[in-house]
Amino acid sequence: MNEIINIALIGYGNIGRRHAAVIASHPFARLTAIVDPALVDSDDSEIAQYTSVDSFLTQDKITDAVVIATPNGLHYEHAKACLMAGKHVLVEKPVALYADQVSDLMHIAQQQQVCLKPVWQIRHSPVIRQLKECFSDGSLGNVLWVQADCFWNRGEQYYHNHPWHGKMELDGGPLYTQFSHVIDLLIWLLGDCEAAESSFFKLRDDIITDFEDSGSILLKFNAEQQVGVINYTTSAPEGTSSNELTIITDTVKIQLEGKYFEKVKSLQPVNKINAMQLSGEQPRDYPDDIASYCSFQLLNQYLDNVQRKLLVNHDDLFLPVSLIENIYQTRPSVFQSQFRQIRIAAL
Ligand SMILES: NC(=O)c1ccc[n+]([C@@H]2O[C@H](COP(=O)([O-])OP(=O)(O)OC[C@H]3O[C@@H](n4cnc5c(N)ncnc54)[C@H](O)[C@@H]3O)[C@@H](O)[C@H]2O)c1
Repeated sequence: MNEIINIALIGYGNIGRRHAAVIASHPFARLTAIVDPALVDSDDSEIAQYTSVDSFLTQDKITDAVVIATPNGLHYEHAKACLMAGKHVLVEKPVALYADQVSDLMHIAQQQQVCLKPVWQIRHSPVIRQLKECFSDGSLGNVLWVQADCFWNRGEQYYHNHPWHGKMELDGGPLYTQFSHVIDLLIWLLGDCEAAESSFFKLRDDIITDFEDSGSILLKFNAEQQVGVINYTTSAPEGTSSNELTIITDTVKIQLEGKYFEKVKSLQPVNKINAMQLSGEQPRDYPDDIASYCSFQLLNQYLDNVQRKLLVNHDDLFLPVSLIENIYQTRPSVFQSQFRQIRIAAL
């Protein structure tokens, strides 16, 4: 990498601010513009500010690439406009809510000869990368079962502060907004898969959303030789959010925990070889901040892809959205109508 890339950030909310800090810390990235209708004028003359993607694309003359961190349901239109304008695009998860939109974006990126990349930063978690290597070379045995248990709390305040959350058209549901990283990790580690069974539940009806708050998904990988299970809820009690990944191979059982599955909770049988292969050691520069570390590594990879003209990776972009869309085809529409009725009755 030897050239500075000028980057605009579209969507300056919770995660947009993290992207801004990471871009500012990278020696080969420069933050040139921020685009957000909710922007309050600041005196920072170095960074241009726009309140719409249209005004940014019309007036900006210096930006090479964008990072899109707007609500899920806007990713497609924002990514499309930027690709058509010849910008490289790094887009937050999910790339779009529908697989045909992702195909369209990949097609435009190829036509325009620009790079389109999704934000799957948890792949850069050091222990996850070690695991990927061990799965590829078979050094921890043949994988039989991978199970993610993600029990999160998303209370009333969360939906109140960010009103796009909980809406079918802008959010889409927990598998897009909270748990798409897990879907991506399972596909990245084990390959493409088939959804065998799915169940959805609305366990708390005091929090009004257009969809389920909980579910259980059974996936079959590699001609049914490997099983994947995802159990999730956004209705765990406040202060108890947890993530756990259990992997059973024919020689070991591994349990990871943490938001980025960055900690090895247990590894059995305990022996020197296993421990060396999966140390879970954090990089020294970021001992306490795994999120910034992973986001920095992802930005690094994006800049590298831009410079090397690695335009699209079908599996990274298409497979997770396509799987979620397939799984959600079996989601009862009763969630939407039932909870709309509750909302109307409450008015
Ligand atoms: N990678 C991760 O770990 C991670 C974590 C959280 C959120 N996300 C994703 O990031 C995206 C944003 O989530 P968030 O939590 O930051 O939400 P947020 O509500 O905090 O921020 C969204 C921002 O987008 C802005 N916005 C809305 N419409 C816009 C438009 N037309 N043009 C420009 N800006 C617009 C809003 O004003 C707001 O500032 C979502 O897609 C979400 O799924 C990813």
